[in-house]
Amino acid sequence: QGAAISSEIKHDEDPIATLPTREGWSTPLTLYNNFWLRSHLLPKCILIKENFKPRHDDIILATSPKSGTTWLKAIVFAIINRSRYGSFANTDHHPLLTQNPHTLVPFMCVKGTDLKQLETMPSPRLLATHLPLSLLPTAVSTMGCRIVYLCREPKDVLISWWHYDNKAAQGSKIDLDTAFAMFSEGCSSFGPFWDHYLQYWKESLQRPGEVVFLRYEEISSDPLKVVRDLALFLGMHFTEEEKRNGADEEVVRLCSFKNLSSLDVNKNGGFGNAEAKIYVRYSSHFRHGKTGDWVNYMTKEMGEKLDCLVDEKFKGSGLKF
Ligand code: A3P
Repeated sequence: QGAAISSEIKHDEDPIATLPTREGWSTPLTLYNNFWLRSHLLPKCILIKENFKPRHDDIILATSPKSGTTWLKAIVFAIINRSRYGSFANTDHHPLLTQNPHTLVPFMCVKGTDLKQLETMPSPRLLATHLPLSLLPTAVSTMGCRIVYLCREPKDVLISWWHYDNKAAQGSKIDLDTAFAMFSEGCSSFGPFWDHYLQYWKESLQRPGEVVFLRYEEISSDPLKVVRDLALFLGMHFTEEEKRNGADEEVVRLCSFKNLSSLDVNKNGGFGNAEAKIYVRYSSHFRHGKTGDWVNYMTKEMGEKLDCLVDEKFKGSGLKF
């Protein structure tokens, strides 16, 4: 099962080195302020919390990993840039056709993105993060930054994580029983997943006009409605003329699993992280793109166990899966 927690003090002078760490997934995780973060990303995450300066017009795509971040990045990028790239009837030159959505919408907690890059971006900035709300600067809330939060049915998240980690891992692989045990203990990257969901859920109840809480399943079942609602939320609603011309439908098509996963950049491109010793192929962000795939990997008992845990964790919050 999951490797034991080690919390021995490695260097007296380095507070990070004293934090509990855990092996098991493709890269070690460190427990920081009640969340398990990939150890190699921790300094970056702390830098964001302490030094990132939010702007009131920032749009932040906050997601629980493996919940459809790539999809959401593509959709929101396509919505807000629709006037820049001409008519959607002719999308030949659209950046989403030649660049991966992760290149177009920078993450706030990844090694490759530095604070300077975020500071030099023109307003309104479109940013993404997997960080829980408690690890973002409090000014994100007090300044009224708009947040689009995306999460997913936890059993599907686990299966997506398990596949992704085994693909991204260059050496060790995690077996499903270990992944299940660690995920259920809250020990997955940016986990516990339930606290991640709950922080943004509560924020969406407190700031309903500024924070939208979305699920992967909602986009899957009615992508056109989500695209229209998101455009409205972002103050860029589709006009009647745009709807007549099919601009909203074109966003759905452009960002669909079928379209994005078939593009050369997403089939053959990727990015490396020397520190984590991983090379991630963009194709690993496009696996199956369906809801309910967990039944093909987990036993009924495992599913019921995770459902019970989810019910218990979300009890009384109004959040249900
Ligand atoms: P599966 O592993 O279940 O297929 P993230 O982008 O947060 O890492 O999430 C990855 C999950 O989103 C993967 O789920 C992936 O296939 C799915 N996904 C990526 N792009 C998608 C798209 N355009 N439409 C639907 N699902 C998509």
